[in-house]
Amino acid sequence: MPTVQYLSHSCFLVKAGGRTLVIDPFFTGNPKATVKAADIKADYVLLTHAHGDHLGDGLEIAKRCKATVIAANELAIYCSMKGANAHPMHIGGGHDFDFGRVKLTIAHHSSAASSATGFDYVGNPCGFLIMAEGKTLYHAGDTGLFYDMKLIGEMHPVDLALLPIGDNFTMGVEDAIKAVELMRPRQVVPMHYNTFDLIKADPQQFAAGAERHGAKATVLQIGESLSY
Ligand code: NI
Ligand code: MN
Repeated sequence: MPTVQYLSHSCFLVKAGGRTLVIDPFFTGNPKATVKAADIKADYVLLTHAHGDHLGDGLEIAKRCKATVIAANELAIYCSMKGANAHPMHIGGGHDFDFGRVKLTIAHHSSAASSATGFDYVGNPCGFLIMAEGKTLYHAGDTGLFYDMKLIGEMHPVDLALLPIGDNFTMGVEDAIKAVELMRPRQVVPMHYNTFDLIKADPQQFAAGAERHGAKATVLQIGESLSY
């Protein structure tokens, strides 16, 4: 049975198909992080986009662990130019890895890394569907609500959806509850909230709304794990 461990913000350590995947590893400069980048051992580093709170420590972890970065094309190439192994993909495309299948979904957001002179725009942001051990995990990345969440849920019944609820930069609680209604995941976990003042949200309010739409909602404490 695959598991996710919540490491704060949008970062999860996933154990699936005999491999360890870390998604959006943001520890350095993260006031809620309880582990350091150096503590992470992973075979794959999945990056939804290049913002500092998602790309985060991804390059350091990928290089130290000789892990493979999985990201949308330009961000993957950006990571290889900086010395990491990377597998470029793009929205709508899926690929079979040794742990299972990854498919990229849309995310309504942007994807830029800060540089000395401003921003490096590195393509599109994305979400991930991770299909392993007969289960489907959806990590939405940073996104606003979109109606195609219904399509994603129809084509890939989601066992566990990781959804941002922090508002301001992404869906807030109300929109994330609508996302659950559209996608109909079996289980749901909120993310991307309460890391900073700007993204304060009440995860219990989200959980109650998600349960009204038939999803089992779990508010993971930082460090806590969940099987799905
Ligand atoms: Ni972002
Ligand atoms: Mn973010």
